[in-house]
Amino acid sequence: MQTLTNQNVVVIGGTSGIGLATAILAHEAGANVWAVGRSAERIAVASAKHPGILFSALDIHDNEGLQALFAQIGTIDHVVACATGANRTLLPFLQQTQAQFREAFDKLWGYCNVIRCAAEFLTADASITLVSGTPARKANPGMSSLSCVGSAVEALTRALALEMAPRRINVVAPGLISTGMFDGMGDKRDATLEKMTANLPIKRAGQPAEVASAILLTMTNGYMTGATLDVDGGTLLP
Ligand SMILES: NC(=O)c1ccc[n+]([C@@H]2O[C@H](COP(=O)([O-])OP(=O)(O)OC[C@H]3O[C@@H](n4cnc5c(N)ncnc54)[C@H](OP(=O)(O)O)[C@@H]3O)[C@@H](O)[C@H]2O)c1
Repeated sequence: MQTLTNQNVVVIGGTSGIGLATAILAHEAGANVWAVGRSAERIAVASAKHPGILFSALDIHDNEGLQALFAQIGTIDHVVACATGANRTLLPFLQQTQAQFREAFDKLWGYCNVIRCAAEFLTADASITLVSGTPARKANPGMSSLSCVGSAVEALTRALALEMAPRRINVVAPGLISTGMFDGMGDKRDATLEKMTANLPIKRAGQPAEVASAILLTMTNGYMTGATLDVDGGTLLP
């Protein structure tokens, strides 16, 4: 296994949830870690708790900003893209407008930006890790746009693994993970997540660190490329 000691790791969407957990684990493993997101408030909270990680404000759709960040770092050993990067409309397909459906694909365009902007700074044996989600392969009603975007992220990963070799690219597909994504549920959050996961083999929501450890595996296992790694408590089982 490759070591992360003194490796340059960039996490786009690294100020909350899965991305923040990844930044923390990589830092604990000895990496130099840059983590970005849009909200100054989230950055202030994360910086205070994790002073060893270099947090900054950036939108995944800001190409100039991404290029400037990568150029400032110089060489990138591992880049992780997990910013949600899009508004998603969770409605049946026929109740969504074309514009709403199209908007969900901003996540894919954000990931594409990261890859294009990082490319010239990647070391010869660098890794890229993207984050999709179980709806890519098992969608409940109302999740058609999430499903299509997730599938596209997984297909992009397989295609780029051939084009970008020997650099490696993998995708991690989380199930339901207890992150900032569910903050809007307020005090109903825990009960709702419990209900949503009651029929899984592992009857609970996942923790961000459980997904982050899979992302660290894709970074450090030099023989993994084009792979989709599921961390979902058994969600995808028939
Ligand atoms: N949690 C789940 O159950 C679950 C399930 C399947 C897949 N996923 C996927 O996992 C990934 C991480 O989600 P999470 O659950 O960890 O969510 P989260 O806690 O809300 O974290 C999302 C991170 O992305 C950043 N972000 C969002 N939009 C951005 C943009 N346009 N530019 C830059 N940064 C942006 C957020 O910061 P700012 O908002 O401040 O920018 C934050 O740092 C997402 O791709 C999500 O679709 C999550």
